[in-house]
Amino acid sequence: MAKPVDFAIPLCLVLLNVLFQHGCSADQPQFESIKQNHCQMDQLHAREPDIQIECEAGRIESWDHYQNDFQCAGVASQRVTIEPNGLHLPSYTHSPQLMYIVKGWGVMMTALPGCPETFELSQGSQQTPQERHGFDELERHQKVRFIGEGDIIAIPPGIVHWMHNNGNSPLVAVSLLDIGNDLNQLDRNPRRFYLAGNPEDEFNQQEGEGISQPRRHSGQGSINNNIFAGFNTSILADALNVDIETIMRVQGQNEQTRSQIVRVEGRFGFLHPPIRSSHGQRSQQEQLDEQQGQQERHDNGLGETLCNIALKEYLGDPKRADIYTPQAGRINTLNSNDMPILKHMSLSAETGFLYNNAIYSPHWNHIAHEIFYVIRGSARVQVVNDIGEAILDDEVRKGQLFIVPQNHAVLQKAVDSEGFEYIAFKTQDKAVINTMAGRTSVLRALPDDVLANAYQISQEEARMLKYSRQETVVLSSSRSS
Ligand SMILES: *[C@@H]1O[C@H](CO)[C@@H](O)[C@H](O)[C@H]1NC(C)=O
Repeated sequence: MAKPVDFAIPLCLVLLNVLFQHGCSADQPQFESIKQNHCQMDQLHAREPDIQIECEAGRIESWDHYQNDFQCAGVASQRVTIEPNGLHLPSYTHSPQLMYIVKGWGVMMTALPGCPETFELSQGSQQTPQERHGFDELERHQKVRFIGEGDIIAIPPGIVHWMHNNGNSPLVAVSLLDIGNDLNQLDRNPRRFYLAGNPEDEFNQQEGEGISQPRRHSGQGSINNNIFAGFNTSILADALNVDIETIMRVQGQNEQTRSQIVRVEGRFGFLHPPIRSSHGQRSQQEQLDEQQGQQERHDNGLGETLCNIALKEYLGDPKRADIYTPQAGRINTLNSNDMPILKHMSLSAETGFLYNNAIYSPHWNHIAHEIFYVIRGSARVQVVNDIGEAILDDEVRKGQLFIVPQNHAVLQKAVDSEGFEYIAFKTQDKAVINTMAGRTSVLRALPDDVLANAYQISQEEARMLKYSRQETVVLSSSRSS
């Protein structure tokens, strides 16, 4: 009796496979060949975003993902700036995303399917339902979270999120989209699906801008539509049980086009936890949230339901340092022990602050690419490949991004009176590094005689090499003065 079912499933999978290969990646080089071709790099560059879209209340900047370093790592990256009172319209992506708040504060929501609307009008607002809608029903929605400088947010593929700047300075977020991740089953072109507006293409340069690759969309100009726009208006009106005029609005068929960050008009109300008292101070509610997050961490991630899974962490917290050297600086790490969803998303992150002249021990990542964004100050950075060439040798500055491919060795030294502050995203949930200097270095693991013979040095020199540096990762410069 079970036999027909057993046969039916593999057949479906085969068909799907065929569909995907032809439908999604016909004009793209195959996954494997991308890896083989594009990790053979002569040069890496630290650079500012290549593509910029100006919106009504902010801008979206993207790094050109066709560059070899991005193709090798299988990632895309964006910087989103939302002006005060701006709203980044609801959207989702097909790849796991980590977002770090570099500056400012605001609110955001990750709408989780099927989870209860935990906020009701009676909890937060003084307005009556009639004032809000002229609609005789309680407002309900899922939890809106405060976000601020130093927060990192994990957004799984397909999860709708929006962000609003309710502060009085620009809100700046840097995101990594891990398109090479197993959770992405489309090709390696970054995509963002908007639920509203007439979004412009964020990831590809427009014609006439010295393009390296043709644009993926062939609509009129650079304006695209949201995902509702593609549906038949009357069937969609029927599906949502609202009138045609409303559906035409939803589909973005307005007189003027609206790109992805809009200015909110009039009162912008939703139900929220108590307002943060001032910039940098975290409200009691937030601290409660974080404690709850801490408790949730002790679960294995599988026992948790999606509805109360922790998706946010205050990674910039100076008090949280995992590695701290008083004279040199600190490093905060985030992995799947801290945030179980990261195991599923196979990503991790690290923020670091090196004081001027401090050195991050030369090291390599075992099984991760590392994508650095410079938040403050600058550093001298060198990245070395398997044939001993420095393929990156530069002073990286605030606002620049650079990629360190797996196993490539990297050395950083802060060279700015402000020091060097960064956020680094890694394409593995428990990324392990091998350091080449310091107490935990690989040199200490090797016998004196191996070092003496390998480098043609004496036993004493070998011991100096192994033991003369006491710190582990963040090293104070012995020649700083
Ligand atoms: C939408 O669907 C309706 C009902 O099936 C049909 O009458 C109408 O022509 C369709 N509109 C378009 C633009 O295809």
